[in-house]
Amino acid sequence: MKKIGILTGGGDAPGLNAVIAGVIAQAKADGASVLGILRGWAGLLEKDAVVLDPSRAEGLATRGGTILFSSRTNPYKKPNGPQTARDNFAALGLDALIACGGDDTLGVARKLYDDFKLPVVGVPKTIDNDLSGTDRTFGFDTAVNIAMRAIDDLRVTAESHRRIMVVEVMGRHAGWIALWAGMAAAADVTIIPEVKMSVAEIAAILKRKKDLGRTSAMVVVAEGVELTDAMVTQDKSTDAFGHVKLGGVGKQLEQELEKALKWEARSVILGHLQRGGAPSALDRVIGLRFGLAAAGLVREKKWGQMVSLKGNEVVGVSLTEAVGKLRTVPPAFYEEARLFF
Ligand code: F6P
Repeated sequence: MKKIGILTGGGDAPGLNAVIAGVIAQAKADGASVLGILRGWAGLLEKDAVVLDPSRAEGLATRGGTILFSSRTNPYKKPNGPQTARDNFAALGLDALIACGGDDTLGVARKLYDDFKLPVVGVPKTIDNDLSGTDRTFGFDTAVNIAMRAIDDLRVTAESHRRIMVVEVMGRHAGWIALWAGMAAAADVTIIPEVKMSVAEIAAILKRKKDLGRTSAMVVVAEGVELTDAMVTQDKSTDAFGHVKLGGVGKQLEQELEKALKWEARSVILGHLQRGGAPSALDRVIGLRFGLAAAGLVREKKWGQMVSLKGNEVVGVSLTEAVGKLRTVPPAFYEEARLFF
């Protein structure tokens, strides 16, 4: 019986458990067994794994998070890490490995495939929706809906106090969450990393609305926006993939706007709330279909490929097509949103 390993790495995303359920279901249909590697690449380096028998798939897609846990471990930053990953793949008796992750996790999968021809298949996951090679990643829809509802709710208190409310959402290099949530919740201005906007420009938009009689305003900003010439970070530490901990640009904007407009302002960082809770129907169904398709790529021995959504079809694309270049918001889409500012 063939044995398929599956791991989930990087920031969790609603829909990961649906992918796991899909893999288990397809593996069962194909007469294969599934081994869950725990804590992303850390589990492969430490041979930390659990058997996922078919009963584990029952109702799993309804739950957020990942039953396999996650980490940002990078085998390529550990002494002998890649070789250990390869050796433990064999020691665990695996025939294939399905890696669910964003650019970092899938970048490691691609390198292990390139360096050792390790039989890997990728599944695109990130709430940031910034992976190339697929029309969308799962987790994004849930995150956007959480952010949209938060903006709707925060508008209520902003109106009561006649304030500007700045809502900071996730999005390191790409403003997909900010743009979608901002458009959906009728934000007065949305600022994304891809389009540079000065505080003076943002203030001018809000002043125009104030002059027309508006007493409150909603501003959405992605965490990766550089108002000055640097991203705002929580501290100086970086993770194993070299990423800083973002957070605070919303506070910066709150203070600048209050100063510029003499209009009381407050800010909120939505942070990890955007990754919490149960997945939306869309993320559950995409997750399940991605899981089925990933196990399908394994059955067909399509190594070095990633499942991808193209329109409504789930297809396989090369991992090389997906990693290393982020999918950012096209300028024309931002221009559409700008018409509502
Ligand atoms: O999953 C991507 C992401 O949501 C980024 O937008 C964010 O900067 C990062 O994860 C934060 O993740 P963590 O705090 O879990 O390391």
